[in-house]
Amino acid sequence: MNKSNAWIAAALVLASAGAAAQAGSPPASTGDLLARGRYMVLTGHCNNCHTAGYIGKQGDVPEQEWLLGNPVGFRSDFGTAYASNLRLTVRSFSEEQWVTYAKGAKPRPPMPWWSVHETSESDLRAMYKFIVSLGAAGQAVPAFVPADKEPLPPYEVRRLVR
Ligand code: HEC
Repeated sequence: MNKSNAWIAAALVLASAGAAAQAGSPPASTGDLLARGRYMVLTGHCNNCHTAGYIGKQGDVPEQEWLLGNPVGFRSDFGTAYASNLRLTVRSFSEEQWVTYAKGAKPRPPMPWWSVHETSESDLRAMYKFIVSLGAAGQAVPAFVPADKEPLPPYEVRRLVR
């Protein structure tokens, strides 16, 4: 085999390895990614806190009202925190920034950041695409109220045992 044939042979091996890797995991279509993101939002329970009235209505809230933030504060020893309007906050990140943020951020209780840290990068990317696809809507939620300040109603009290 002369030198140029050897290069062609090496290139063919690489090309077929690439094709095999692709055959194992075909690139997901946009529709598949959005469906996966929707599934992750539902089974990750994001709506329970970030969608107003979602628990009271036992999930019977139309998709266009999802993740608009919750005006009912969660009051605990940590202060009073409001589940943010993810329709506004998530799109303020690039997809790359979102993955980094979601893997490392520790928002205040009762935000279950420890579960989000465990979410795979591909699922985080799918969630990002789905949440952004819902479109920007609604307003920012009230600002966090420190534990030594009295929040305005409405809020619910959570006893968080440490
Ligand atoms: C048990 C209630 C609860 C659940 C479930 C929950 N969150 Fe939160 N989340 C909160 C609260 C409350 C805050 C505000 C915390 C603060 O003020 O620091 C928050 C903050 C956040 C923040 C940081 C603020 C922002 O918007 O930039 C992100 C991002 C977030 N949540 C995403 C999610 C996602 C994604 C899910 C589903 C996988 C989820 N949350 C599930 C209650 C919840």
